[in-house]
Amino acid sequence: MAVAIVQGASRGLGLQFCKVLASRADVAKVIATSRSAENEAALHRMQSQFPNKIVLINVDVTKENNIKQVVPKITEESTGKIDLLLNCSAILHPSGKGETSLRDVSLEGLRTTFETNTIGPLLIAKYFSPLLLKSSGLLGKQAGKKHSGILVNLTAKVSSISDNHVGGWYSYRLSKSALNMATKNLSIELGRGKSKVICVALHPGTVDTDLSRPYHKDKLSVEDTGKCLAWDGNAIPF
Ligand SMILES: NC(=O)c1ccc[n+]([C@@H]2O[C@H](COP(=O)([O-])OP(=O)(O)OC[C@H]3O[C@@H](n4cnc5c(N)ncnc54)[C@H](OP(=O)(O)O)[C@@H]3O)[C@@H](O)[C@H]2O)c1
Repeated sequence: MAVAIVQGASRGLGLQFCKVLASRADVAKVIATSRSAENEAALHRMQSQFPNKIVLINVDVTKENNIKQVVPKITEESTGKIDLLLNCSAILHPSGKGETSLRDVSLEGLRTTFETNTIGPLLIAKYFSPLLLKSSGLLGKQAGKKHSGILVNLTAKVSSISDNHVGGWYSYRLSKSALNMATKNLSIELGRGKSKVICVALHPGTVDTDLSRPYHKDKLSVEDTGKCLAWDGNAIPF
């Protein structure tokens, strides 16, 4: 039975990913994290809907010490292996609005957005990749293609350099492009050994429902590692 972590699970897509995963018969446990996960009413309601399946743990990805502190608890809850890790945490900008011109760009805006969208997910990969490497690839399996866990970094189409025709949203675009590069690096490093973690950047589309289609189909294989994929399985150029 599979174990999944949804990082950035308190609302939006992360919350829906938790629901989809918890409702699967082949998933034994979903570990849901965010800064407020333990106090989130929607997650508590979901916990009662799927008894003993959902574990809530507060983690602020902008604080490396906080990530480090929860490693023993998550290792215990996951019984030492993770089959799927979804990095969902992100902000558009600390002000809530993406920059429309260079005038709006600030060190604080860039720094906070990068900490949440890029550095946080990378640190999560650093601390939890040992558990992904221990997975026997229970999710996303395709005939004949052996892999261990799956690491999914939620990206956005606006991270694509070649697809950028309108500009703006400096902090968000830059942070997600950098996250794509981190995903590529992770796919190389975590794909070198005998156990191979599939690492993909996933653009979920702009709809906020029914976003679990790629997982329902179990389509990911070793050939996908290092790619940036849209919700419908099509590759997005970096
Ligand atoms: N919605 C879309 O149309 C869309 C389109 C393209 C890509 N995406 C991507 O999909 C992902 C999910 O987006 P969403 O729309 O579901 O966002 P959302 O509803 O705003 O949720 C963001 C999540 O990130 C968590 N978070 C924020 N700061 C955090 C921190 N410092 N540490 C830990 N968790 C933190 C939040 O929880 P707390 O506040 O409790 O910490 C929340 O659970 C993001 O990566 C986004 O870039 C979304």
